[in-house]
Amino acid sequence: MAKRAEGLRGVAVAETKLSSVDGEKGLLIYRGYPIEELAGNVCFEEAAYLLWHGYLPTRVDLKDLKAHFRLTRPLEEPLKRIMRTLPKGAQPMSLLRTTVSAAGLLDQKADRANENATLEMAERISSKMASIVAGQWRLREDLEMIEPHDSFDHAANFLYMLEGEEPSEIAAKVFDTCLVLHLDHGFNASTFSSRVCASTWSDIYSAVASGLGTLRGRLHGGANEMVMEMLQEINRPERAEDFIKDLLARKRIVMGFGHAVYSTVDPRATILKKLGWELAEATSQSRWMEICEIIEKVMMEEKGIACNVDFYSAPVYHMLGIHRALYTPIFAVSRIVGYTAHILEQYSNNKLIRPRSEYVGDRDRVFVPIEQR
Ligand code: COA
Repeated sequence: MAKRAEGLRGVAVAETKLSSVDGEKGLLIYRGYPIEELAGNVCFEEAAYLLWHGYLPTRVDLKDLKAHFRLTRPLEEPLKRIMRTLPKGAQPMSLLRTTVSAAGLLDQKADRANENATLEMAERISSKMASIVAGQWRLREDLEMIEPHDSFDHAANFLYMLEGEEPSEIAAKVFDTCLVLHLDHGFNASTFSSRVCASTWSDIYSAVASGLGTLRGRLHGGANEMVMEMLQEINRPERAEDFIKDLLARKRIVMGFGHAVYSTVDPRATILKKLGWELAEATSQSRWMEICEIIEKVMMEEKGIACNVDFYSAPVYHMLGIHRALYTPIFAVSRIVGYTAHILEQYSNNKLIRPRSEYVGDRDRVFVPIEQR
């Protein structure tokens, strides 16, 4: 019997050339580039190109990719009709998973998408993901969906589609960097789930939907929403220390801390913290960042646990004026690039992912016919 690894910790399931996480050193690289060099220096489309193609785009490549994104952003009427019929108050990630499934149903090529899956398809699904999330938000708020803006890049366009107003330069820039930071992260739970689905030669939409269902959980993508809930409950910096100590005394989990891979600080959290302070200054709302810093200090002193990407993304999104119900769907707006890159990588060198389980149930029981039970 093979050695059991609880939760598959430390097990390498397949090879990947996409991204690498060194949990001990706190390093994340996309296609060989450290995240610190990419964040703030490349835009979302540029980072997506890098992940999909394996090299940074030239100006012409980037222009083409942006043009393709613009072309494919609008949602087709049949999909919008389906979106309008879904219950407005439903959990946003359930809505997103259902809508992506419906998009697969409407895509003529989807049934053969494992064979037909191309980079073009990955780009199309990724560009539409933002329109779906923004559209769902508008419907939830009883507002009309907004058509994408012709001249905005992906990050600015998403913010525009939420509110119908051109975002400020700093808001667009910060959000763009957030998207770059969330693009890919090794074999995280939802990416792994997408790859498992793809490994059965299922279609690309099913594989994405599988990832979305996994991302929804509060131990994964759902954590950032709960971080903001906690920050709002704490509300004032002077309440933060006691609040966290009380949670720990009651053996509760503090959302936004700890990581299955990092034993040190998550490098994305360091970048988000810096962005958070930039936004705090620009928007004169330092309160959330002050609360976060106190929590970070208490968690390190009391538990020796560092924060993860979800911790500082919460105040950043809040200061961008984004409602917390959208935090996990926003994660998906970026991570869709990682999912599709991984799905294509899986198809290109497929081996069915099928681990074993260790059976610990009863054995050798004597069967009793139903009349005698
Ligand atoms: N708050 C308080 N204690 C925590 C903690 C947190 N956020 N994260 C881990 N711990 C503690 C555990 O209680 C456990 O303590 P114990 O050994 O006394 O039982 C120890 O640290 C190890 O935790 P474990 O759950 O085994 O680590 P893991 O690697 O399996 O889990 C997470 C990783 C992410 C699931 C976990 O840290 C967590 O639940 N974090 C909060 C959710 C979150 O922020 N998720 C987003 C991840 S990007």
